[in-house]
Amino acid sequence: MSKNSLSSRDVFTSRLGVIAAAAGSAVGLGNIWKFPYITGVYGGAAFLFVYLGFIALIGLPIMLSEFTIGRKSKSNAFGAFKKLAPGSPWKFVGMLGVAAAFMILSFYGVVAGWSIDYIIKSVTDSFASKSPDELDSMFTQFIEQPGLPIVYQLSFMLMTMAIVIIGVKDGIEKYAKILMPILILIILVLDVRAITLDGAKEGLNFLFHPDFSKLTGEGVLSALGHAFFSLSLGMGTLITYGSYIGNQNNLAKTALQVTVADTLIAILAGVAIFPAVFAFGIEPSSGPGLVFITLPNVFQQMPGGFFFSILFFLLLTVAALTSSISILEVVVAYFREELKIKRKLATILATAMIAIVGVFCSLSMGLLKENTLFGLNFFDLLDWISANMLLPLGGLFISLFIGWYWGREKIEEELAKGAGVVSWLLSVFIFLVKFIAPGAIAIVFLHGLGVFNF
Ligand code: PHE
Repeated sequence: MSKNSLSSRDVFTSRLGVIAAAAGSAVGLGNIWKFPYITGVYGGAAFLFVYLGFIALIGLPIMLSEFTIGRKSKSNAFGAFKKLAPGSPWKFVGMLGVAAAFMILSFYGVVAGWSIDYIIKSVTDSFASKSPDELDSMFTQFIEQPGLPIVYQLSFMLMTMAIVIIGVKDGIEKYAKILMPILILIILVLDVRAITLDGAKEGLNFLFHPDFSKLTGEGVLSALGHAFFSLSLGMGTLITYGSYIGNQNNLAKTALQVTVADTLIAILAGVAIFPAVFAFGIEPSSGPGLVFITLPNVFQQMPGGFFFSILFFLLLTVAALTSSISILEVVVAYFREELKIKRKLATILATAMIAIVGVFCSLSMGLLKENTLFGLNFFDLLDWISANMLLPLGGLFISLFIGWYWGREKIEEELAKGAGVVSWLLSVFIFLVKFIAPGAIAIVFLHGLGVFNF
């Protein structure tokens, strides 16, 4: 049998490996860069509470659905639907996923590249004695350059490629097991620093005391989009990873653990950031620049800031890497199985294609800034289409597929592998994927598109 054949398909070798890889995918720029800034923009705790609701009622059941589809089919995102629903249009859901993976990794690599640059800026103490305005223009001038950000973006894509090309067990699983503990350690160190600052309390209040009057319809759509983005849902990442999970694994337990880990780390990132931001009297709602402009300002005033800023940007880069490998693997698995090519070629091909689109994302910050569609530059457009449209749409179809097309018997049969199925829990799961998840996604989605108001 050739290495590419399905009977010798890649597998994760341990329970811990499955969790490290899947949590590694979930925990990324979404948790550390995006979650704190959108929480800041949409008013803090009220946004957090809506987000938590979406995670529990929609995110968790869809994660379990993706794992189930993946393990049952033992195929890439597109092949999975082809196999489980032969001759039907369901395979386009997989197609949508591969397209989303392409888009997300293109801009993801750019932000990860900025993060590498900020490790270097931290090591060379470049934030010292700079005014907030100087730090602002330092960031803006950097991302608008046509050269350096692209060099870092391409370096990051090469790092991602280097891991994925090795394979599932010795690449993805092994590096996730090394990098995830480092990530957790760094975030805990940063948390202790933040909450021991004078004036930290105000930041914690901002994060945990909700003021629902601040919540907007747009905030609710962003909370939903972000729940998908943060848990790596709606585009087949966890279908692909699920296809490498062995039959002895308890899928429901794994989904729960990964969801809890991702959510906890997002909150811990908020706890590392908001108390520090408030302690130095800075505005929390600064948008995408929060970690690249506001935080350097915090670090240069904070005792030990030189050291903590290196740690922070290292954290951001590591988190991005364990996620980017999972996004690349969606495309690689698709290329391998659908185009029947070897992992090595598939990885090089996918990386090259995505990196090229990424170059345009990077250029859209400066040189191509004026080229906009719906008022968004290329980078923001890919971010918006993928997170707010493709992922929720993918999630909608995945939940409909499991809830309506597959039905209770098949779900029970797959979930019973490696676990005892508790009948009422199964009923709750089916109710959520059948009605709650699709209903909520449809409402929030249509509202976000301005179809109606509530
Ligand atoms: N979940 C990752 C993050 O939070 C991003 C991601 C999205 C990864 C979609 C895979 C699929 O940064």
